[in-house]
Amino acid sequence: MSETTFTPRVFSGIQPSGGLTLGNYLGALKRFADAQNQGIQTIYCMVDLHAITVWQNPEDLRNNTRELCAGFIASGIDPEKSILINQSQVPEHAQLAWVFNCVARMGWMGRMTQWKDKTAGKNAEAASLGLFAYPALMAADILIYHATHVPVGEDQKQHIELTRDIAMKFNHDYGVDFFPITEPVIEGAATRVMSLRDGTKKMSKSDPSDASRINLTDDADAISKKIRKAKTDPEPLPSDAKGLEDRPEARNLVNIYSALSEQTVDQVLAEVGGMQFGTFKPMLADLAVAKLTPISSEMARLVADPAEIDRILARGAEQAREITAPILKKTYEIVGMIG
Ligand code: TYM
Repeated sequence: MSETTFTPRVFSGIQPSGGLTLGNYLGALKRFADAQNQGIQTIYCMVDLHAITVWQNPEDLRNNTRELCAGFIASGIDPEKSILINQSQVPEHAQLAWVFNCVARMGWMGRMTQWKDKTAGKNAEAASLGLFAYPALMAADILIYHATHVPVGEDQKQHIELTRDIAMKFNHDYGVDFFPITEPVIEGAATRVMSLRDGTKKMSKSDPSDASRINLTDDADAISKKIRKAKTDPEPLPSDAKGLEDRPEARNLVNIYSALSEQTVDQVLAEVGGMQFGTFKPMLADLAVAKLTPISSEMARLVADPAEIDRILARGAEQAREITAPILKKTYEIVGMIG
């Protein structure tokens, strides 16, 4: 492991591939805002280079990147307190990624479950080379800042483990103690928000059923309807967390309530244990509407001024490069690049 003590620094990213879900909010954005308010340096990124590992319509990509930036700010990330960037505007990410492409092994990449899921049942030969190399770019995103902590949802855990492997192999291959061994931060009740139609499937923007997810752009009516129609079982809610085992849909709704109300699952169950879903669902719907609709109206207000978003991102890129340029320079020196 590392002998050097690195200054605590938080980094995380989200793909601007269109649409933010309640999963993105509870698993990522809300936790990013919490981390920002703990006095640690925080850097948050729209990862457009990752998005193009599958083809994106250029006009959509531009709009989605701005909308995502609005989503970050509307969720409480303050550009005066955090550095907010668009990945392609900080070229050191892609430059370090190339070095990491030469450190990471094909076998490591082939074992990534997201790669396997995305190519399952399809012709893997037709997937882009970028999709295969995706986790090496993600490692570069994190390590170009010497970030020590990365808040993510459960589904990104394996990628952070790979980031640690890349840092260790680089440090070992070059006999240095240069890159930190980053910690994933996967905490709270909502690090894996599940589909409202199937409690065993992750809530995802790519699910063909819109009823399976709450979008951050949904209005009060849509949020309430989706929660009222969410799949459940016929039993009343249990009074302790053990009673949620083998009840994926019930567990998911309780986890969502817990994360939105900032109470532990035990606290929630102390309040709602014994209740029927007919009573609990309207409570959850009211809570979700109260927490989410101010975010969607703030997002709408912010996207109406794209020039302001572009200014925020340009300033973020400048601040970011003060950190990334010296780290890339030092990396090149370690590797033996001259000049
Ligand atoms: P992405 O864009 O798929 O998701 C962004 C963040 O949202 C979390 N998330 C969820 N959390 C809980 N429940 C869900 N249903 C749910 N769906 C999504 C994800 O875990 C993630 O934290 N590879 C990354 C982006 C990335 C990145 C990075 C992240 C690129 N470079 C460096 C951290 C550090 C991704 O595709 O996330």
